Amino acid sequence: MQLQSLPEKSCSMISEKEELWSDMLRRIISERDLHVRWLATLSYLELVGTRKIISFLPAMNCPLSILQHAAEESRHASFFKAQIRKLGADPDQPCQLLGGGLAKWYLHRLDQWVVRVLKQSDLEEVKIPSVAYLLTTLCVELRAEWLYPVYETLLCSMKQPFSLKGVIREEEQHLRLIREELASFSFNPDYERLIYAEKGLFDDLTDQIALDLESGALSDRHHSSLPREASTAAFVI
Ligand SMILES: [Fe+2]
Ligand SMILES: [Fe+2]
Repeated sequence: MQLQSLPEKSCSMISEKEELWSDMLRRIISERDLHVRWLATLSYLELVGTRKIISFLPAMNCPLSILQHAAEESRHASFFKAQIRKLGADPDQPCQLLGGGLAKWYLHRLDQWVVRVLKQSDLEEVKIPSVAYLLTTLCVELRAEWLYPVYETLLCSMKQPFSLKGVIREEEQHLRLIREELASFSFNPDYERLIYAEKGLFDDLTDQIALDLESGALSDRHHSSLPREASTAAFVI
């Protein structure tokens, strides 16, 4: 990987589909069953993120900041589940994720991609898990920093019974911490390539959710297992 800092351009690449997401979220919020599935999807993604952080945690001398990060992501998972009850539905009723298998495997595919690229770099093997944690988390926090405010604006304007303000504040703090950690790191990744990879995965997920909303199809019929090869351009760069 080449030396470069995280450029503004990388961050702006993330927000290309804002109008589409506004339209999709407006539709999702206006139909209770879709909104329940969306909240369950967010809760699932937050929980997968928590589990990934926990699998990275050293039991001995674990930094407080990472423990706090895991605790907050876990709280986000429970927060989104709890909002299902506010919509008058049972949060423990199993439901299909919006985006089906592409939502189910989004974080795992991202993580796998990061690890594969790091293994091809000259980074010492022993440092791969911690750098992978930082880079995967960076992508996820940038995505949350973009998506949650779009959702929050609609929750407000459509007078929904809950707000994401607390979650957004914590995600901003996570992003700040990850940026600081990366800035102090001797390894300098190719951030544009990284952001582009995440964007490919997220675009696939976006398209699947748009298709689900359009056709009313249940997307778990597709991609229910981990795809052997990614369909996105992210994997051929
Ligand atoms: Fe979170
Ligand atoms: Fe976070």
